[in-house]
Amino acid sequence: MFSPKRSLVTGASAGLGVEFARVLAARGSELVLAARRTDRLEELAASLDVKVQVVTIDLSLPEAGRRLFDAAGPVDLLVNNAGFGTHGALVDEAPERLAQEVALNVAAVVDATRAFLPSMIANGFGGIVNLASTAAFQPIPGMAVYGASKAFVLSFTEAMWAEARKHGVKVTALAPGATATEFFDIAGNPPGRQQTPEQVIAVAMRALDRRSTPPHVVSGAGNAFAAWGTRLVPKRLLAPMAGRIVGFRG
Ligand SMILES: NC(=O)c1ccc[n+]([C@@H]2O[C@H](COP(=O)([O-])OP(=O)(O)OC[C@H]3O[C@@H](n4cnc5c(N)ncnc54)[C@H](OP(=O)(O)O)[C@@H]3O)[C@@H](O)[C@H]2O)c1
Repeated sequence: MFSPKRSLVTGASAGLGVEFARVLAARGSELVLAARRTDRLEELAASLDVKVQVVTIDLSLPEAGRRLFDAAGPVDLLVNNAGFGTHGALVDEAPERLAQEVALNVAAVVDATRAFLPSMIANGFGGIVNLASTAAFQPIPGMAVYGASKAFVLSFTEAMWAEARKHGVKVTALAPGATATEFFDIAGNPPGRQQTPEQVIAVAMRALDRRSTPPHVVSGAGNAFAAWGTRLVPKRLLAPMAGRIVGFRG
């Protein structure tokens, strides 16, 4: 079993981050919980039976990963979970909001990985879980920036998996499909079938527990099949199909 002594979860004030924190605490890991809403982080911290450090931080701001490391110090497990998705045609979205989406979903993941990985390599032990999505496996008209941000996370993480494994550090991308969290409060358009956070985090933990952690894991057999199937669909059909699924009429 993968047993980190100290783990950091970003986006721990809601959804998947809360469940990650609970599961890691149940494994006896000390925690660092990071997000913007301090009250929620403190409430979660009070409910857990392990030592918890709360870090209030806006990860969409420049050099967020380095600042997070300065606040938290080294950890054995980094979960880059904070993220959000915008929904609608690109030209209808405020440019500042799109920039924030890229900064949080992409830049902060790179910056935090760069900041936390060296101490894991030095220890010859550690793990990094980056939140991708089934959105990573095809372009999505109507969620163009979100889909591309998760495609970046998937590609980046799989490269880091190969760079880090010889140092004893497990890196994997977790790709959930639709999951019942607060995500759709922002992204809109919630689909009917959703997994629970418990189901999704169990998949991530099983991946970390494997002797050879895979470069990515998709949560749910149906989601895994759909993600795999995207490679069989001609490109000129794939994007319009994905757009229809998120309710985009091109
Ligand atoms: N739910 C799904 O269907 C689904 C599917 C695939 C992938 N994912 C991915 O899973 C991850 C977690 O999402 P979720 O479903 O748990 O969504 P959620 O319930 O909305 O939680 C999002 C978390 O991200 C944090 N966050 C947002 N903006 C932030 C910022 N600027 N700085 C720091 N933290 C920030 C939020 O905290 P504060 O607001 O307190 O800062 C919150 O804790 C995301 O990367 C998402 O893209 C979700």
